[in-house]
Amino acid sequence: MQNPIIVALDVPKMETALALARQLAPVVGAFKIGSELFTAAGPEVVRRLRATGAAVFLDLKFHDIPNTVAGAVAAAVELDVQMLTIHTSGGEEMMKAAEAAAQTAARKLNRPPPLVLGVTVLTSLDSNELNLLGVTGNVGRQVERLAALASQSGLRGLVCSALEIADLRQTVPHSMQLITPGIRPAGTEVDDQKRTLTPKEAMEAGANWLVIGRPIYAAKNPRTAAEKILESLR
Ligand code: C5P
Repeated sequence: MQNPIIVALDVPKMETALALARQLAPVVGAFKIGSELFTAAGPEVVRRLRATGAAVFLDLKFHDIPNTVAGAVAAAVELDVQMLTIHTSGGEEMMKAAEAAAQTAARKLNRPPPLVLGVTVLTSLDSNELNLLGVTGNVGRQVERLAALASQSGLRGLVCSALEIADLRQTVPHSMQLITPGIRPAGTEVDDQKRTLTPKEAMEAGANWLVIGRPIYAAKNPRTAAEKILESLR
């Protein structure tokens, strides 16, 4: 089994992120850099993390016209990230352009293309808020629609909430990689996450990767917390 734990480095400083990564690298599969850290520390944090040999998930959720997203994806390939996110609501052309840019830029640099992951409906949005945005019907239907569109557009992975995994597994191709946040080991704080699964439940439901933040980086001993989670999966 590949190590499916991706640690979200949701900290504001590069040094803190790198220290955490040094400590955790032997027991986790990858590290996620999101908008907070990237905006504060810039691409240098990606380069420094990659220089340690760690796999990097660049979670900047690109959402723009196809040409701009393609350029951003190519820039992410230059940084040698292994996974990155785009919004599926950017549309079919945008998703196709992103996947094509990942393939082309990687070929030029003679490296494997990163996994371009589609974000469907942000879990912070409920049916009411979607209605205000002009999206009628329930959240689940919209997630399914966007997931199908992502698949048709050639994306090889999706970010989904823990509670969407089992349903999506019924509808998307078997090869689709599903990455899920909202993971809480039994007996830990749920924080602001409303609907969570344990790491084992999420893997059993069909997730390929687990994004875990606070239960690891805010633990008294992050390394022990990550080891325990890994142990719970064996
Ligand atoms: O600390 P915690 O484990 O809740 O962190 C989860 C990570 O996954 C954070 O980086 C958060 O931004 C991200 N995320 C999420 N829910 C989503 C999408 C991303 O919690 N629907």
